Amino acid sequence: MRLTAAIAALLANSALGQSEPKPGPDGTYEISAPGIRAQFIPYGATMRNLFVKDKNGYEVDVVLGYDDIAYYPKDPGHPVYNSIPGRYVNRIGHATYTLNGTTYHTEQNDGNNTLHGGTNNWSYRFWNVTALSNSSITFSIHDPANLTTGFPGSVDANVTYTLTENTWHIKMQAVAPDTETPLMLTHHTYFNLDAFKNPATDLIWDHTLYLPTAHRYLELDGGALPTGKILTAAPGSVNDFYSSPNASFGRAIHDPAFKNNCGSGCDGYNGYWIFDAPGSNTTTTAGAKRARSAASDSDVVLTLASPWNGIKADLRTDQPGVQVYSCFWMDGTAPLKSTQGTASHRTVKSDGCVAIEAQDYVDGINHPEWGRLNAEITGPGKTYNWESSETGCTVWLDTEDAIDSKCVDCENPGLEAPILSRLVPAVFNGIWASFVTWRADDMIVKA
Ligand SMILES: *[C@@H]1O[C@H](CO)[C@@H](O)[C@H](O)[C@H]1NC(C)=O
Ligand SMILES: *[C@@H]1O[C@H](CO)[C@@H](O)[C@H](O)[C@H]1NC(C)=O
Ligand SMILES: *[C@@H]1O[C@H](CO)[C@@H](O)[C@H](O)[C@H]1NC(C)=O
Ligand SMILES: *[C@@H]1O[C@H](CO)[C@@H](O)[C@H](O)[C@H]1NC(C)=O
Ligand SMILES: *[C@@H]1O[C@H](CO)[C@@H](O)[C@H](O)[C@H]1NC(C)=O
Ligand SMILES: *[C@@H]1O[C@H](CO)[C@@H](O)[C@H](O)[C@H]1NC(C)=O
Ligand SMILES: *[C@@H]1O[C@H](CO)[C@@H](O)[C@H](O)[C@H]1NC(C)=O
Ligand SMILES: *[C@@H]1O[C@H](CO)[C@@H](O)[C@H](O)[C@H]1NC(C)=O
Ligand SMILES: *[C@@H]1O[C@H](CO)[C@@H](O)[C@H](O)[C@H]1NC(C)=O
Repeated sequence: MRLTAAIAALLANSALGQSEPKPGPDGTYEISAPGIRAQFIPYGATMRNLFVKDKNGYEVDVVLGYDDIAYYPKDPGHPVYNSIPGRYVNRIGHATYTLNGTTYHTEQNDGNNTLHGGTNNWSYRFWNVTALSNSSITFSIHDPANLTTGFPGSVDANVTYTLTENTWHIKMQAVAPDTETPLMLTHHTYFNLDAFKNPATDLIWDHTLYLPTAHRYLELDGGALPTGKILTAAPGSVNDFYSSPNASFGRAIHDPAFKNNCGSGCDGYNGYWIFDAPGSNTTTTAGAKRARSAASDSDVVLTLASPWNGIKADLRTDQPGVQVYSCFWMDGTAPLKSTQGTASHRTVKSDGCVAIEAQDYVDGINHPEWGRLNAEITGPGKTYNWESSETGCTVWLDTEDAIDSKCVDCENPGLEAPILSRLVPAVFNGIWASFVTWRADDMIVKA
């Protein structure tokens, strides 16, 4: 059934005519910029590959995916690999919500809840490629109203991926011209910065994960649905990612609270962390303060790094928080791409990756007390905006404190540049733009 639909959609796409940009011979669309290269497919507006440079200057494909692009629509697991789920990502509690006096019922495809909009979600659609250049690609979707799946009104959305030096930007815009509807998007990016090539481990726990401003997180029930309570992570507790810049992602695996932390029978992480508003007055550890000032202007809300190959990704976003999922439910059946793995690492095991999803508060449409309705409901006269970027550079985590990590020009490993400056375009809906400068005067390259 699904395959038939997929072929029909392919035919529909090919009937669009000459004006639509054409993919390369392998069916993917490739864009690049200095130090970074990415390949995309229309299915789910998916980023199939993201190549950045490691500490030795070699290209590493840091996101999960399949070599065979025809497998994406067939994959029964459908992990939403680096695609755009929609129109309302993550969970809708008890598959219901009320809007303007009407109660809507969405599909229960995740226990009693709706996940990523239910069946017929955007990550299962063939998007149109509406613009393409050497460094940028735009995908578009028209999503008609569907009361069977519980969403009134049509939605039109554009998603543009743009690469600049060592940086990947995503901008999404959407409108719902007919009537109000829940609308909440994300890029569902799955990383393994080691590309499963670290002989010592093909799990994600050797990475470091740092969320300098995420003191608070949403409490989850057994189905990984927020209960409504907003908790504060005590320093050193399982859900604390703010107090230690160099802490390994897996530092709490032996903590009893790690078990069932992402729902009943799920060990690890599949929750939502809230970024403190800029300038808010939350206490931070001395180490975190130093790291933030070095990260310049504290606009980086999440850093994922691999001490093994020196790759680091800094996330900036206009979203108020992030879902972090440590891939507990991966079961060792998904094959790796030919760009990843070793002779003995050929599939994605449980805990083999981390999904990073900048988005609004999970199930905020059912929690008016959080004040997220304006952000999560779009209708006539409004435009939904989402914008994030990830900048990669290579670092060495020193045993003392990640503040001493060295940022290296990924294009020129070996270079001892006094200062590396890069322009980071406006990432907060045009409210501001800023220059980010990394001091690299004490940089030492270990090749
Ligand atoms: C799911 O719904 C069923 C039927 O209403 C109920 O018995 C069950 O307790 C619910 N499960 C959860 C986890 O809420
Ligand atoms: C998306 O929709 C498909 C059917 O089109 C469904 O099988 C799948 O469970 C949905 N995916 C998620 C993650 O909700
Ligand atoms: C609405 O969603 C249902 C369930 O996914 C699907 O069978 C139906 O074709 C959809 N209707 C439209 C108009 O897209
Ligand atoms: C795009 O890439 C092609 C092939 O590498 C090159 O010939 C062309 O000049 C590039 N165009 C721009 C605008 O950079
Ligand atoms: C792609 O464009 C065609 C022609 O405008 C339209 O009929 C189709 O619905 C579009 N596909 C998607 C996924 O929006
Ligand atoms: C999407 O892009 C098209 C141009 O390709 C534009 O006409 C349309 O207004 C855009 N829609 C949104 C929601 O930004
Ligand atoms: C709310 O519902 C009323 C009555 O059905 C309707 O007239 C109005 O347009 C709706 N408001 C929005 C913003 O959709
Ligand atoms: C982080 O650095 C501190 C000293 O600042 C050290 O005690 C700790 O072991 C380090 N942790 C990791 C995981 O390297
Ligand atoms: C920040 O917190 C400290 C300690 O709680 C307090 O003394 C100070 O007044 C606060 N500053 C602002 C601007 O809220």
